[in-house]
Amino acid sequence: MLFEILLGRDLPEHYIERMNAQRIHEYGVNTKNFANEKQSKFIYLWDDDALKAFGMLKPLTLTCQGQSQAILGIGNIMAIEKGRGHGKSLMTYMMGYLKERNAVGLGFCDRENSGFYRKCGYTVVEGISARFRYRHAQETGDRERLESVPDVLCSSPEFIAWLQSSNEPIEVDVPFW
Ligand SMILES: CC(C)(COP(=O)(O)OP(=O)(O)OC[C@H]1O[C@@H](n2cnc3c(N)ncnc32)[C@H](O)[C@@H]1OP(=O)(O)O)[C@@H](O)C(=O)NCCC(=O)NCCS
Repeated sequence: MLFEILLGRDLPEHYIERMNAQRIHEYGVNTKNFANEKQSKFIYLWDDDALKAFGMLKPLTLTCQGQSQAILGIGNIMAIEKGRGHGKSLMTYMMGYLKERNAVGLGFCDRENSGFYRKCGYTVVEGISARFRYRHAQETGDRERLESVPDVLCSSPEFIAWLQSSNEPIEVDVPFW
């Protein structure tokens, strides 16, 4: 097993095509444009030459209770073959990567996947995703709020506790990832 980390701006075209194809396979459609993710980090799990899982960490600033925090948005987590531990290997590696850098990773997930993230050591909570707002939605035309009410997953229980300590809006400076 080998982990490879690439910055979005350095992604070879065939890596982007591979992720697009996997998203279409998974969801029937690809709504992401990875070519725009120049500053994001992509983590790939390989076994020999076969891709097993991948995921993304997107730098962003989150503002709540008058405080701004630089965090990493966790997104596009995918295992190619399910139920073989590849998703967990990826998320465990990601947790180590975040801890080594003293960084917080945060993402959104449908309830059906919450158990998976908990098993990987992440804190998953319901009831706060409706507080998230994308700050520049009016200028860019991207959605201001999440349409559904997914759970929020986070590498840091302390960061989640801080978000839960108020009911104030949680602003992000990038479109939902
Ligand atoms: C979610 C996903 C990444 C999980 O990856 P995976 O490789 O199948 O999961 P693993 O085999 O590593 O499972 C790790 C553990 O989580 C459990 N698990 C896996 N999926 C789960 C789920 N949806 N709910 C609860 N537990 C789950 C496994 O049983 C395993 O438990 P164990 O450690 O006790 O044996 C994978 O199913 C996937 O790619 N799904 C489609 C894309 C997607 O929905 N991505 C998430 C976007 S938020």
